[in-house]
Amino acid sequence: MNALQRDMFRLVPRIEAGDRAKVDADPRRLRFHLMPPVGWMNDPNGLCWYKGNYHVFYQYGPFDPNGGVKFWGHWTSPDMLHWKQQPVFLCPDQTWDIHGVYSGSALVEDDALYLYYTGNVKHLGEGFDYINTGRGHNLALAISADGIHVDKNQLLMENKDYPDGLTCHVRDPKVWKLDGKYYMLLGARTKEDRGEILVYESEDKLNWKHINTITTPEIFGYMWECPDLFCVDGQYIVSMSPQGVTRQGNKYQNIYSCGYFPLYGDFRGAYTLGEYTESDIGFDYYAPQTFEAPDGRRIAIGWMGMPDADYTNPTAAENGWQHGMSVPRELHWNGRCLTANPVSELDALHCNHRTFSVDGTAVKCELKKGADIRISNHGKQLRVMFGNDAELSYAAGLLTLSLSESSGYGRDSRVAEIENLTELRILADTSSLEIFINHGEQVMTTRFYPTKADRVTIEGTCQAEIYDMNAMELAYLV
Ligand code: FRU
Repeated sequence: MNALQRDMFRLVPRIEAGDRAKVDADPRRLRFHLMPPVGWMNDPNGLCWYKGNYHVFYQYGPFDPNGGVKFWGHWTSPDMLHWKQQPVFLCPDQTWDIHGVYSGSALVEDDALYLYYTGNVKHLGEGFDYINTGRGHNLALAISADGIHVDKNQLLMENKDYPDGLTCHVRDPKVWKLDGKYYMLLGARTKEDRGEILVYESEDKLNWKHINTITTPEIFGYMWECPDLFCVDGQYIVSMSPQGVTRQGNKYQNIYSCGYFPLYGDFRGAYTLGEYTESDIGFDYYAPQTFEAPDGRRIAIGWMGMPDADYTNPTAAENGWQHGMSVPRELHWNGRCLTANPVSELDALHCNHRTFSVDGTAVKCELKKGADIRISNHGKQLRVMFGNDAELSYAAGLLTLSLSESSGYGRDSRVAEIENLTELRILADTSSLEIFINHGEQVMTTRFYPTKADRVTIEGTCQAEIYDMNAMELAYLV
């Protein structure tokens, strides 16, 4: 840490002993999801396994629960169940990142962690629109030996180094190694408002050459944020969060989308993209990033939030924090689509197992502060209610999630088209629901703020298994 970083670090609020009581008393704090100690959280960054720990860095606004200038916050865990808050990893303390240490990713190699990120700079001056003018999006690299402190931070590329025809919006590097070379994706917005992904290659991790561009034949949104590319079960997948895709019926119901294309061919050369599918069709899931666990699983974590949405979270004004991460989700390709399901580690939080056979009459089950509900559906209709605040109903091939006015804070309903609903798994935390449909072929994630969700009611013809969930351990820096 240099002197300036040390000063910034001192400024970053920590949860002091006195505040801890407040934290523990806050009924909206999530019990088995990561969230900021205080302030604001958005995208997951630098996800990796390094020296015996999972690392989740994240976009962090420690001074302002409504955002502000971004830092990189940091959680580590040996098992995705016991998490430790680490010191802020990156502060906006360099000329190339002074208005925000934006999103990026991790490369683990030899005894070091290489963290590539975007330094955001907003130039002061008249007449800038901050799209075509006035903004610097700089590619930077922070290197760390212990995974906790930055040993070296350097600028690698600036806007002038990117291909012609782009706006200033070029960000969110995703880096990995393949066949002895390094590859990097950058999300970009062109001057004609086309979203695309720039593909770079490097021999030395420092000098990067633009070798390809991935985009759709027809424009699909004006900007592709947080690109990712990986191979799972033999299928290449390009994932990103496109902005500017307009709603079509039940598709793309959120202000910004988040999804993936299967990629056929070679991402370095000739390729075609298959059909775009949304990774999550709830209100609150964006900018996911994937990484490979030490046992080879491909795991995704997404921001359980949505930028620029017209719905809100009362925790910003009332509790001094906002947003969280999704649970880690294991990805697979089933030949038709990606499936996403909670990592099996979370099963260790189960307690109080109950089973129900539902046929005709509604079954009611008391819940504590969180639940894992698994339903095998045998009927054409199904209804699951959390208190009076959230309803999930299946009829005529549509699965509808509806939130009450008092719990939704502007969130009303979201609809999934499901021809045959066979299976549902719902992870309910104090103020979130993650709904995995038909073994994770579709997922709906939402924040909600129930006054009383201490009971679930199930109607239809189904088998249900319900577990209460113990809390994960979050060790705060004090
Ligand atoms: C996505 C995003 C990224 C950017 C970061 C800034 O939510 O806009 O594109 O790097 O958030 O916080």
